[in-house]
Amino acid sequence: MHVLLSAADLAAGIDRLSAAVRESVEGRPLTIVGVLTGSIVVVSDLIRRLEGPIRLGMVWASSYRGTATRPGRLEMRLDQLPDLSGQDVLVVDDIFDSGRTLEALLAELRGRGAARVRSLVLLRKQGRSEVAIAPDFVGFEIPDLFVVGYGLDFDGGWRHLPHIAVLDPQDIAAIRAGRPPHDAANVSTPGASGLSRP
Ligand code: IMP
Ligand code: MG
Repeated sequence: MHVLLSAADLAAGIDRLSAAVRESVEGRPLTIVGVLTGSIVVVSDLIRRLEGPIRLGMVWASSYRGTATRPGRLEMRLDQLPDLSGQDVLVVDDIFDSGRTLEALLAELRGRGAARVRSLVLLRKQGRSEVAIAPDFVGFEIPDLFVVGYGLDFDGGWRHLPHIAVLDPQDIAAIRAGRPPHDAANVSTPGASGLSRP
């Protein structure tokens, strides 16, 4: 397990993304639609750097089961969404992998009368897209590796890490066998994220 993007890298990425969104919205009202559960950290960091009238709604989507690292059947729940008619909407997700989640969500949201629906992802895995759509805003292009932290999980764990870490195949095998990844203690401490230790 090793750090791919430090907390400082991620903060700089959120600064870039929020500047790009602010510039494109130009003070008009914006409805952010976050995709639970992985987007909670990027959504909370992003909305605090946006200006102008912002509304927030959350949907839930998942295509993972337990310790799988490739997507399965997509499930979505959109029952907590506010009324989107006439709204400028920005869907925010943690990562664009096959693109199936975003493709399905955009189709659903476009059927709800929004004036405009765009999308933002913190991470995009290179060479994995299976769809014709692409996100409008991308924080970081990353290699085809399984990553955790900053909202992203493996089998429900690791979402709380302040950085993005790569789970190597031997880490995944260890977790599946009920053992911790080899240097998890190092990765989960603040020191590994670029912050100073107390
Ligand atoms: P897609 O539908 O294949 O684009 O997958 C998007 C969803 O899969 C994301 O919202 C994540 O929840 C999950 N996902 C894809 N790759 C990873 C990863 O490397 N780590 C953790 N979750 C991932
Ligand atoms: Mg997700």
